[in-house]
Amino acid sequence: MERIDKLLANMGLGSRKEIKAMVKRGEILVNGAICKDAADKVDVTSDVVTAGGRKLRLRTSFSFMMNKPAGYLSASRDERDATVMDLLSEEHQRLGLFPAGRLDKDSEGLLILTNDGAFAHALMSPRHHVDKRYFVRYDGILHEHAVTAFESGITIDGGERCLPAKLELLEPGEAVVTVQEGRYHQVKRMIAAVGGRVIYLKRLAVGPVLLDETLRLGKYRELTDEEFQTLAILSGLWRSEE
Ligand code: URA
Repeated sequence: MERIDKLLANMGLGSRKEIKAMVKRGEILVNGAICKDAADKVDVTSDVVTAGGRKLRLRTSFSFMMNKPAGYLSASRDERDATVMDLLSEEHQRLGLFPAGRLDKDSEGLLILTNDGAFAHALMSPRHHVDKRYFVRYDGILHEHAVTAFESGITIDGGERCLPAKLELLEPGEAVVTVQEGRYHQVKRMIAAVGGRVIYLKRLAVGPVLLDETLRLGKYRELTDEEFQTLAILSGLWRSEE
């Protein structure tokens, strides 16, 4: 059960103050009856709420994609460093979002932020092997045999065996890497294992969801229903017929 003023404010209908004013004017109906108190609770799965005569699709789950800039931690908070949460508007800071997956402080690109614990958990679970694709600039020279080494599963730091991954060599010093896992500094360590040193890393895609290149660094937008559904199905949260 959710407080109606908080729920509707989170859904972007207005500020808490504006929702309270709408309630006072009798513009909010719950199951056909005028809502008298902004503190009333509603059940998002069964109650029908209308605002100014318009039926609302109630929801508490919010997920965004951000084009993360370098210099920010993928964390909810940190004592010392700026986090991606600092890039959110006040309105979105109130949603209780957190990063689903990590990018290093110096990495850029697609970061998913959600307040949906089940979605985040499914997306990050190592069991589900959701592909992550990265554009990489590196120092050093990588040879074709690095491509086969990635395919057969690279061993990093003398012991950790990675799942098969894809390395596409572009111009000298540039590559695209696709991995199925999210180990600590994974791409940097894999490139190091074949003789390179990553100097720039940008996540281009998570599963089939691509970074929206119209988002400038530090900007974000809500995932479309289709993007959310694709990721929910891929990560095993939903079955495709649901
Ligand atoms: N691999 C890395 O090494 N760093 C990232 O930020 C993401 C993947």
